[in-house]
Amino acid sequence: MDLNGRKVMLVGGAGLIGSHIVDKLIETPVAEIVVFDNFVRGNKDNLAAALRSPKVKLIEASMTDRAALDRAMAGVDGLFLLASLWLGECVNDPRSAWEVNTLGTWNVIEAARAHNVKRIVYSSSASVYGNAVVTPMTEEHPFNNRTTYGATKIANEQMFRAMNEQHKLAYVGMRYMNIYGVRMDYEGTYVSVIMKVLDKLFAGERPVIFGDGSQVYDFIYVEDAAVANVLAMQADCVDEFFNVGMGIGTSINDLVLKLIELTGSSLTPEYKAEAQSFVTHRIGSTEKAERLLGFRATTPLHEGLQKVVSWRLAQRGIHA
Ligand SMILES: NC(=O)c1ccc[n+]([C@@H]2O[C@H](COP(=O)([O-])OP(=O)(O)OC[C@H]3O[C@@H](n4cnc5c(N)ncnc54)[C@H](O)[C@@H]3O)[C@@H](O)[C@H]2O)c1
Repeated sequence: MDLNGRKVMLVGGAGLIGSHIVDKLIETPVAEIVVFDNFVRGNKDNLAAALRSPKVKLIEASMTDRAALDRAMAGVDGLFLLASLWLGECVNDPRSAWEVNTLGTWNVIEAARAHNVKRIVYSSSASVYGNAVVTPMTEEHPFNNRTTYGATKIANEQMFRAMNEQHKLAYVGMRYMNIYGVRMDYEGTYVSVIMKVLDKLFAGERPVIFGDGSQVYDFIYVEDAAVANVLAMQADCVDEFFNVGMGIGTSINDLVLKLIELTGSSLTPEYKAEAQSFVTHRIGSTEKAERLLGFRATTPLHEGLQKVVSWRLAQRGIHA
């Protein structure tokens, strides 16, 4: 879809990925950007710079409120759906997982159809794959998921697919690997280690690694994930799912050593037993996103982590 003069909406646009998509969209010729978020996790600080743009409008409401979606969606051409309860939340409260992630997504689909929204970019997750059966995982990798969160993502993917097949709903889905970056919080199951390790290092304490640190993930910087979303909105292909990752595996041991190096610390990690482990091995193939969307992540891990360290140091300066 050509973005020129378009009105776009981001459901869940105040969160980590959504707020960076807003920043990228401001630089494009879109006419209006509506951020729809109930702030259960995202916050207004994430949008502080974006809200200075006359293009950006903020609506505080939940996607479980169908009437609020209807009011917000009038005239919208393109929609990014990012809102979701997170993995840990879905473990603790499976009913809310179902009501928010699945029924909420269905509300968005219904409202989008009622308002003739031309294209939806849906935020799925690499959680649909579970642990890797083969590496790198292509988009054909089986649904090996074993979490409530992943189950809601699979259900939503299937509903988008059915609505495309039966009603020509134009959508694509993004299966993010592990997104980290400026504005991240402590809730990301696989990436919060970055925040916790930095807190320890800044306090002069040994960082903690749960398990033996051999768990391997595909970390991708959030601004790259935002670029992937904008490209997915601009693309013509429909009914496709895309891995959004670097295609490079990094162990938790290596990640923590990089953070120790970047902060100039001489501390060594302390190992503790893991309370609950979900996925321990995940690296995505980047081939399909490159071929159909022209997307390739460009921020090396070292550079992305440096940005996070600088951001956290600045925050500590502000709050000191
Ligand atoms: N960050 C990752 O590593 C990662 C990995 C895989 C998938 N994802 C998926 O990508 C999407 C965005 O992730 P993120 O890291 O930016 O998450 P996030 O939690 O930072 O952002 C999601 C936003 O949705 C909002 N929200 C939640 N429920 C809502 C509701 N009922 N109505 C309106 N807004 C609501 C939250 O307040 C938050 O601002 C999510 O769907 C997530 O499941 C993220």
